[in-house]
Amino acid sequence: MKPTILIVDDEQHILNAINRTLRDDYNVILSLDGKSGLQVLREQEINAILSDQRMPGMTGSEFFIEAQKIQPDTTRVLITAYSDIAAVIQAVNDGQIFYYIEKPWEPENLKLVMERAVERYQLIKHNRQLLQELEIVNQQLSNENIILKRDVANKYDFSNIIGNSNAMQKVFELLKKVIPTDTTVFISGETGTGKELIARAIHYNGPRKDKVFAAQNCAALPDTLLESALFGHTKGAFTDAVSDKKGLFEIADGGTVFLDELSDTSPALQKRLLRVIQESEFQPVGSNEIIKVNVRIISATNKDLLELVQEGKFREDLYYRLNVFPVHIPPLRERLEDVPLLADYFLNKYKLQAGKKISGITDKASRSLLSLPYPGNVRELENLIHRAVILAGDGGEIDINHLQIDWDVNKNKSATPILAPLESETRSLSEIIEDFEREYISKILTTNQGNISKTAKELGLSRAGLYKKLKRYNLN
Ligand SMILES: Nc1ncnc2c1ncn2[C@@H]1O[C@H](COP(=O)(O)OP(=O)(O)OP(=O)(O)O)[C@@H](O)[C@H]1O
Ligand SMILES: [Mg+2]
Repeated sequence: MKPTILIVDDEQHILNAINRTLRDDYNVILSLDGKSGLQVLREQEINAILSDQRMPGMTGSEFFIEAQKIQPDTTRVLITAYSDIAAVIQAVNDGQIFYYIEKPWEPENLKLVMERAVERYQLIKHNRQLLQELEIVNQQLSNENIILKRDVANKYDFSNIIGNSNAMQKVFELLKKVIPTDTTVFISGETGTGKELIARAIHYNGPRKDKVFAAQNCAALPDTLLESALFGHTKGAFTDAVSDKKGLFEIADGGTVFLDELSDTSPALQKRLLRVIQESEFQPVGSNEIIKVNVRIISATNKDLLELVQEGKFREDLYYRLNVFPVHIPPLRERLEDVPLLADYFLNKYKLQAGKKISGITDKASRSLLSLPYPGNVRELENLIHRAVILAGDGGEIDINHLQIDWDVNKNKSATPILAPLESETRSLSEIIEDFEREYISKILTTNQGNISKTAKELGLSRAGLYKKLKRYNLN
């Protein structure tokens, strides 16, 4: 479709001449005065207007003032005689016209000016559409962002970290104190105890929650890749560095960097980490540029980092920089009273996911859940319940035969269930837990031929903690 333009002139033969020049390229509308020209503008979209200045009644520039109010984006072009130059200057200064054509006009020149005029109009229109689309996309993004943030915040809300045991309540007390600060946190605990869950909860409940939480599993990458993941690199810094890349420390500026499993890092990387922690600055791989950042650091490991320091495998100065505020998450077998709560929590989670109605867990199955040593901790329990939900029938309960207990994995810690499902169980929960603990410690102690250090380590206890328990249970 041809673009539509409007020509206003009080002389019919001039209108006809202009029409002949332009009609091949445009849909041309002719008006003999400003008033009828304004009527046209009210009725349809006009790309450009070409108007004579001298007309009886309304002059060209007076007409343009009104035209601008109706279709402000339309390009306005004035045709004038040399004697009207003052009017042209005025019209240009007032922003009413974009081009003017001097009489007598050349057809080729007229064509060229109108081509530009229409092009200008279409560019403005296109721009406006793009802006509108951008605004819509922005709005959508910001909506999605709000939803995402709400989702994330809900997910890491403390109500989703289960733990009624004294041990976990103590952890929560510690967290309450450290969350509102910028303090560097060091989380220790066996695999599957919830270290990452807690690291995220610290970030998403703290003052940096609207900024990035960047997690890096330091054991997952070889050294050079880990360096570039954390600190970024410049193009050509190494063979595969085809373009500049920002590292997590830069991406998470203002937020939190979670260094997971950092015990295995090389001396060179430990040195770099020390610098970024001490000076809040670093250099991307292959770059001389020094980048300053403000990040909160949370680190986690399931190894005994102090032992690695003593063995000379981990920098002592870095250890103390990271271990400003230690949070230890006890293994699940030391807080078995959390097992029923966790089991219920995971049951709800996975039955919703599976769209199944499952009314609960039978007593037998519950007791059997309390009889496991859980070397994989909460993750192991979670997987157990997840599988049970898949196996259980819709509308029924989770029973012992739905619990696919991997006795092989658990064998090392406890060969047989200390608590076989008993029809005639009469003990209270705390008595069952105590019995379990006594028997379990005694077993591990026997396997280790009475070696206290080994046993304490395997149980995830300190030596003093183990002595206390031995005394309490009268074990030798
Ligand atoms: N107290 C808890 N309440 C609810 N879910 C938990 C809790 N602790 C752990 N989980 C769940 O158990 C699983 C393992 O937790 P997470 O990944 O945080 O463990 P981790 O200590 O980082 O383990 P690893 O050392 O193997 O990396 C996750 O699905 C997590 O949501
Ligand atoms: Mg983890």
